[in-house]
Amino acid sequence: MKPLIIAVFASGEGTNLQSIIEHVERGDLDASIAAVVCDKKNAHALVRARRSGVPAFFVDPKAFASKDEFEGKLVSLLRQQGVELVVLAGYMHIVGSVLLGAFPNRIINLHPSLLPAFKGANAPQQAIDAKVKETGTSVHVVTRELDGGEVLAQEKVPVLEGDGASSLQERIKKTEHWLLPEVIQLIAEGKLLELRK
Ligand code: GRF
Repeated sequence: MKPLIIAVFASGEGTNLQSIIEHVERGDLDASIAAVVCDKKNAHALVRARRSGVPAFFVDPKAFASKDEFEGKLVSLLRQQGVELVVLAGYMHIVGSVLLGAFPNRIINLHPSLLPAFKGANAPQQAIDAKVKETGTSVHVVTRELDGGEVLAQEKVPVLEGDGASSLQERIKKTEHWLLPEVIQLIAEGKLLELRK
């Protein structure tokens, strides 16, 4: 089977990107990362991609007159790289209609909560404020509804006494680092999303 050609979108630290890169390098993930796309010039994700020889692109949203034009540029980049699946891993931009129209049912996102709980920004802080004992992470299909598409996989993560948003976020990331590659592998095998039929 040919590797699934993916793009990873990230805005910041890029530890999930790093985990995907390492799974591919170890041969644990039948995917080829054709593009890492960042909307922030200083995203550490760009450094991680370049260090591993993965094609990395900074596309500045502010350089475009509208969101549609910005996304039009992303679509041509993704098509040029032959991308089959777009993985949002810490991408802080809301995906709009141009990108969704070009990749329907082909964009997935990682969100640090057990959706539908705690949608939107600062999900770990929301979990702490709600005093829940357990939160988690979800991989879901991106649709027009924010954090609202079909959930493909979820894992629970405990909230411990004394947790702040950042300690909880770090614990959640440890789970994300294996869950996201696992979901991509299932998609590559045609067992989820059925992209490859
Ligand atoms: C992850 O926790 C993900 O759930 C959220 O943003 C974080 C990205 O972390 N959407 P990193 O940049 O991969 O380290």
